[in-house]
Amino acid sequence: MSTQKIAFITGGNRGIGFETAKQLGELGYLPVIGARNPAQGQEAIDKLKTMGISARYIKFDATLREDHLSAFDYFSTHFDRLDILINNAGASFEGDPVSASKIKDATENVSEPVLRDTMEVNFFNVVFLTQALLPLIKKSEAGRIVNVSSRLGSLTTKADFSTPLARVNTFAYDTSKTALNSFTVHLANELKNTAIKVNSSNPGWVSTALGGAAGTSTPEDGAKTSVYLATLPDDGPTGKFLQLEEEIPW
Ligand SMILES: NC(=O)c1ccc[n+]([C@@H]2O[C@H](COP(=O)([O-])OP(=O)(O)OC[C@H]3O[C@@H](n4cnc5c(N)ncnc54)[C@H](OP(=O)(O)O)[C@@H]3O)[C@@H](O)[C@H]2O)c1
Repeated sequence: MSTQKIAFITGGNRGIGFETAKQLGELGYLPVIGARNPAQGQEAIDKLKTMGISARYIKFDATLREDHLSAFDYFSTHFDRLDILINNAGASFEGDPVSASKIKDATENVSEPVLRDTMEVNFFNVVFLTQALLPLIKKSEAGRIVNVSSRLGSLTTKADFSTPLARVNTFAYDTSKTALNSFTVHLANELKNTAIKVNSSNPGWVSTALGGAAGTSTPEDGAKTSVYLATLPDDGPTGKFLQLEEEIPW
């Protein structure tokens, strides 16, 4: 059996996920990118190849239960385990969070499709995918689960109405990340006596399609926390919300 560690990065075809795959590849891990569009998955691994990184991709749409099961089949058949799961795929359906007109009355008026679709991608399907892959993560000597969250999901931050972040009123997105953080805490607690570590990462405000052009950090920097949490040593933290080693309040 190969000793190279296997990392599954959902939404790895672009943005922070692509950079996470690249950095893990540079560290000698085998990144497997989940991409809902197979052509974009192929393009991503071709690009990594030009950088000297060997990677793979699987077709993965977070909202499709059959894609969760095919991911299980893929890792089970090829590796009989999974070392790292990075729940990175994420979406916002509320538009530019820094646009004053967009955020007006967002909580009062949020539509049912926006609220449900956001929770589907950013929360429900993270739980279901993780449940599906957990039997394989338990077979790893040092399983790592990284839930890519956001400081916008920090209730402590949002409840301080004087902070600039409290004025970003993307209710659906923020709530999905708060729920994701709850999943991190519950799962980490349940797995605390195993080798598996489960943490939430805060990438910072990153200039990507989702973060917008005004993002103050690059995908390269944004990926660093996911990589840090994916490669934690055995005595590293679990059940935490971190941006690199800085703890973010829940
Ligand atoms: N950018 C920021 O400032 C920031 C801040 C905090 C947290 N985050 C989090 O970081 C993660 C990555 O975001 P990003 O900034 O890199 O955004 P991005 O460049 O827009 O990339 C999002 C990725 O998620 C994938 N995705 C979206 N919906 C999906 C679905 N239903 N099934 C499978 N994949 C799906 C996208 O796939 P397609 O290419 O097919 O659309 C893409 O690969 C997200 O969880 C986001 O919430 C970002």
